[in-house]
Amino acid sequence: MISRRGFLGLLLVAGCGVEVSGERLASGLPLPPKFARPLVLPKTAQPTSPGRYVVTQRPARMEIIPGTTTEIWGYDGTWPGPTFDLRRGEAAVVTIRNELTVPTSTHLHGGVTPADSDGYPTDLVVGSVRPQHAHGGYTLHDRTKDYVYPLDQPAATLWYHDHRMDFTGPQVYKGLAGFFLIRDDEEEKLGLPAGDRELPLMICDRSFEADGSFGYPALDPTLLLRHGVRPEFMEGVVGDVVLVNGVPWPYREVEAVRYRLRLLNASNARRYRLALRPGGSFTQIGSDQGLLERPLTRDTITIAPGERYDVIVDFADYPVGSHVTLTDLLGGDVMRFTVTRKARDDSRVPARLTNPQPVDDPVARRTFDFRVDDGAWTINGNPYLPGRSVAAPRLGTTEIWRFASDFHHPVHVHLGRFKVLGREEQGWKDTVDVRPYETVEVAVRFDGYRGRYMMHCHNLEHEDMAMMADFDVV
Ligand code: C2O
Ligand code: CU
Ligand code: CU
Repeated sequence: MISRRGFLGLLLVAGCGVEVSGERLASGLPLPPKFARPLVLPKTAQPTSPGRYVVTQRPARMEIIPGTTTEIWGYDGTWPGPTFDLRRGEAAVVTIRNELTVPTSTHLHGGVTPADSDGYPTDLVVGSVRPQHAHGGYTLHDRTKDYVYPLDQPAATLWYHDHRMDFTGPQVYKGLAGFFLIRDDEEEKLGLPAGDRELPLMICDRSFEADGSFGYPALDPTLLLRHGVRPEFMEGVVGDVVLVNGVPWPYREVEAVRYRLRLLNASNARRYRLALRPGGSFTQIGSDQGLLERPLTRDTITIAPGERYDVIVDFADYPVGSHVTLTDLLGGDVMRFTVTRKARDDSRVPARLTNPQPVDDPVARRTFDFRVDDGAWTINGNPYLPGRSVAAPRLGTTEIWRFASDFHHPVHVHLGRFKVLGREEQGWKDTVDVRPYETVEVAVRFDGYRGRYMMHCHNLEHEDMAMMADFDVV
């Protein structure tokens, strides 16, 4: 599946400290100017009755590159999909209707969700074409499925996205992703910046064909018959346009006050090392799974696919009229803020954000080795096989999971929340960027539900090419 030469060449480059992940896919049209269009915020999902939502997956056309339109596949025909803005413990039932050609599975990333609503890759909602390749063991729902989200978990920035077996990469790339925010009383009491001073920012990259359509190196562009990408993109698909909430290199006017930025890397394979230009720092208040115990000042934030960072930026540190660029030290600019005027700021960033949440004594240790093996992306030497379970942690316990790798693998665990041991990351997380030839240990706790869940690499091309494994919470 991968040319040995291409892969080894990449490892050599990575070894020299240059960070690349896959080949960059060049667009076939002139790239749009930077900072020319305003940031757009996704609309908020509205219930049809209390706690009930209906979302229709359908194609739509969007003007992403000025002067041309792009077909997207979106939740309610939008990209990003509607933002769910809900409170802890307020259960939601989301009916997904599939009006696409392809089957889908919807996963709430970071959610403590019963297994049958977790978006298992072969638990599919069928669209207008019945899948040819679906073998035994697939569950097929005709057009709709109700996903139940109890949301009994602390305030956090979650996101939802497609999780179809073998095709997650191209289907997320087409637009099947959105924010899912959980709020709670504890967070609300803090007095953090809120309202229009709270910005969810979905950062991702894409490439465009000359006709404006998304460029993706799928072996089968219909995504119906055959999965996979052209061999030179096996390491992951990286585009040459960086977008925030679906707008290429947008700008946003801000007042000279504190803002809360909920950063999400929704890219298939690209990592960012975010910094502010001309200077300044981020105050990190939250991680994947919610608030940190106390705020942390960071000059840069390295964010891998699937990760979230919740940060405060105080634009009062910059003179009115200045431009503050959110830039990526690994690849170029992302977006720009323009400080327009002074304003009153009643927000606070308290020194203590949440109660200490110590890690329990682990009851087991397991090692998972993420590497390329015989042309496939594997975990402990095996490509993904639905139903083959690699671990059976007990509900309510903590285990040490040790991830080893040969490459950059952003490892994500469903259901469990973990603390990364011996590295700079703070707080509870669900995704950790395991670096080439690194071994990372996490203390992962399984709460919520028994059942079949999964872990996988969140480089979506690796995921689609089998770097995934099931585990059973018992
Ligand atoms: Cu965000 Cu299993 O994925
Ligand atoms: Cu997930
Ligand atoms: Cu990977």
